[in-house]
Amino acid sequence: MIHNLSNKRIFITGGAGFIGSTLIGMLVADNDITVYDNLRRNSLAGRSYEHHPRLRLVQGDVLDLAALRHAMEGANIVVHCAAVAGIDTVLKRPTETMRINMLGTANVLEAARHLTGVERIINFSTSEVFGRSAFRADEANLTEIGAVGEARWTYAVSKLAAEHLAKAYHQEFGLPVVTLRPFNVYGPGQVGEGALRTFILRALKHQDIEIHGDGNQIRAWCYIDDFIEGLLSSMTHPRAIGESFNIGNSRAVVTIFGLAQTVVRVLASQSRILFTNKTYADVELRVPSVQKARELIGFEAKVDLEEGVRRTAEFYRNHQE
Ligand SMILES: NC(=O)c1ccc[n+]([C@@H]2O[C@H](COP(=O)([O-])OP(=O)(O)OC[C@H]3O[C@@H](n4cnc5c(N)ncnc54)[C@H](O)[C@@H]3O)[C@@H](O)[C@H]2O)c1
Repeated sequence: MIHNLSNKRIFITGGAGFIGSTLIGMLVADNDITVYDNLRRNSLAGRSYEHHPRLRLVQGDVLDLAALRHAMEGANIVVHCAAVAGIDTVLKRPTETMRINMLGTANVLEAARHLTGVERIINFSTSEVFGRSAFRADEANLTEIGAVGEARWTYAVSKLAAEHLAKAYHQEFGLPVVTLRPFNVYGPGQVGEGALRTFILRALKHQDIEIHGDGNQIRAWCYIDDFIEGLLSSMTHPRAIGESFNIGNSRAVVTIFGLAQTVVRVLASQSRILFTNKTYADVELRVPSVQKARELIGFEAKVDLEEGVRRTAEFYRNHQE
């Protein structure tokens, strides 16, 4: 699909992260981009366009409203990726998770409301809002918030609150907001603790691969290039405004054990697959329906799991950690 994004001023919070920095690669030749990131993670470092003349990096925190507003001045499009994400980080820092994801998004929406002529604001929610078990979950499914005290659900709840707030800004102030719910995105440049990234890195070194629990948790895996296509459509398509979309690959479905086996087989690795106790609440089943995104904005995931594993492994072979 051709996306008509040129000569825009695009402001990306969390733009040094996995999704943001991949998006920048697609846009930086034709647009002026400002990244606003506290650099807790940095996937931008080492990319060929890290020092592109049309890319400006502002080190800042989304909790700092004054700095955020200042950095956002003049933006046409706001893409709000900044968040605390990843199960290990969320479990260790539930307070920060709630504050950054909820209050940080509130700040981004408030700052965007004061822009003149903002065309689009993309907010990132998560598939976790569907709770423990979600098969062919569509956007109208009830969202779940889990038990209070289970640190895992602080992430889902913070994202869900932010999603409600984004919708409220659209309804009340006419802000052109779109919310995306990514389902297990992976690929070159991922930073942090994604299962597929960890499995591939270990398989490349023939190290043991550890699975938390018995490995029968089911996920659908979305390759980053497919995700970025959906993101670009949500930034440009008129029918996206005011909507929430599941973005994922509903065909690339496998258990976590099956995922580890696939990685080992595709990469011809000698790694053993081991099982360890799971100490946190988990999502047993998570497969999206992407029909709404297909119908409204023409989204279709194309890269199957084995091909995605090969491409990701190729990247890590050349960027060994
Ligand atoms: N990758 C996935 O599978 C997935 C799934 C569901 C939801 N999401 C959501 O998509 C968005 C992007 O995900 P990603 O995979 O690129 O994550 P990421 O962790 O790679 O990127 C997040 C970025 O936000 C920055 N950040 C964190 N706290 C900040 C703060 N207080 N102020 C400014 N910047 C801050 C980090 O430094 C990082 O660069 C996030 O909102 C995430 O919750 C991703």
